[in-house]
Amino acid sequence: MNKTLIDLPAFGDERGILVSLEAQKSIPFEVKRVYYICKVKEDKPRGFHAHRNLQQLMVCVSGGCDLVLDNGITKQTLRLDDPTKGLVLEGVIWREMHNFTSDCVMLVMSSHHYDENDYIRNYDDFLKEIKK
Ligand code: TYD
Repeated sequence: MNKTLIDLPAFGDERGILVSLEAQKSIPFEVKRVYYICKVKEDKPRGFHAHRNLQQLMVCVSGGCDLVLDNGITKQTLRLDDPTKGLVLEGVIWREMHNFTSDCVMLVMSSHHYDENDYIRNYDDFLKEIKK
């Protein structure tokens, strides 16, 4: 599974924590797009897709969720709920986000602009794609 949990540069003191993400330093690819997911519902999972060619860094800056990651051979679930940890994903990985806390804000940095043609939204198509 092409996933790495990285420590983000965090400056914590009695006032709180400041996390600084710098292009080409703390993020291992050139960032072309940033989006965030917020105002989520605990019973409304998201994702259910893979990308053909995209690198992403995901951080839950508030709250958390379970990320289910599947490369067609192994399936792993990890809880993303630490604003000082980022998950870097690359390669064709089916991802689902479950069990959001209601305060969850997930920030995602991506290596490419939004392109619906980069998405595989059907699980059988995903399995076919990784066998290629
Ligand atoms: P969707 O893929 O359903 O979100 P999730 O990965 O959380 O399940 O995306 C929701 C909508 O937002 C969908 O209409 C596509 C659109 N969208 C953009 O226009 N730009 C983007 O960068 C992203 C990630 C999604």
